[in-house]
Amino acid sequence: MEAIREAIREAIRIERLSKTFSNGRKALDEIDLRVEPGEMVALIGASGSGKSTLLRHIAGFTASDAQPSQIAILGRPIQQNGRIVREVRSIRRDIGFVFQQFNLVNRLSVESNVLIGALARLPLWRRLTGRFPGAERALSMAALNEVGIGDHARERAANLSGGQQQRAALARALVQRARIVLADEPIASLDPESSRRVMEMLRTLNVEHQLTVLVSLHQVDIAMQYCPRTVALRRGKVVYDGPSAALSPALLKKLYGDDARELLDEASADSATDHADNNANEGDTGAPAQDTAPTSTRYAFALNPAHSS
Ligand SMILES: Nc1ncnc2c1ncn2[C@@H]1O[C@H](COP(=O)(O)OP(=O)(O)O)[C@@H](O)[C@H]1O
Ligand SMILES: [Mg+2]
Repeated sequence: MEAIREAIREAIRIERLSKTFSNGRKALDEIDLRVEPGEMVALIGASGSGKSTLLRHIAGFTASDAQPSQIAILGRPIQQNGRIVREVRSIRRDIGFVFQQFNLVNRLSVESNVLIGALARLPLWRRLTGRFPGAERALSMAALNEVGIGDHARERAANLSGGQQQRAALARALVQRARIVLADEPIASLDPESSRRVMEMLRTLNVEHQLTVLVSLHQVDIAMQYCPRTVALRRGKVVYDGPSAALSPALLKKLYGDDARELLDEASADSATDHADNNANEGDTGAPAQDTAPTSTRYAFALNPAHSS
């Protein structure tokens, strides 16, 4: 019975969420959003559209405006009506974070950083003595190997590249046995190859480990490549929520006006209107996008006729 109830529960449920900062800036404006368990959803929007603010609210790091509203994680409210619940820490155990800053403890080894994920599940005395059971260490190594950085387990986190640090954060989510991953522009400062690896790992967590993934992204082509569903924010409002495949340059222009450029690449934004009508004539190679290909080519692939309407 419990299993059935669990199965029908949304992973993330947001109702009427608004956030006005003390300077009067309305960063979130009546957001309603539901994410089902097992989904991999992209959150897109130009900078300043509210992506980070929304993710921070879902994580219970920031309280919303004090009007009737709710965010629930797997059926448990994490904040309501502008108040973060007292059990926030316990609810956060279900969430793995891949945020740009404060991801890892720099002075600790990579392995220790990943083991931190297991802490929440360990009895208090073990947390206090800092002694991890062998099983936890084995799990950490398995997770580090899975994300491809097992060789770096003993290094200090500070010595890892940006992409490796993001992968360590994903290993930590696995060790933590998180059920939801919130990733805030995890590839924003990475080169194409590192970006691809991080996105592939997110996909592995989603497909093979059944984690629900909500990932904010700057580029629409990446959203289309990895996430079946996209939620698009503009000025704190959800302006689109649906299949990523339907996000043609023309639709983006309609949703974002000139801001669409920021979500496409400059080159593809320029040609967006030119190509919008021609998409149906472009061949679908079925091949994965090449990291080495010019971004405009990558984008052309992402908008292949199989996806655009
Ligand atoms: N702590 C804050 N105080 C005041 N304004 C903020 C704060 N954090 C974010 N904002 C504003 O809220 C809006 C949304 O910001 P943010 O969520 O960071 O957008 P994004 O992540 O999409 O770039 C922006 O206008 C930003 O300037
Ligand atoms: Mg942000």
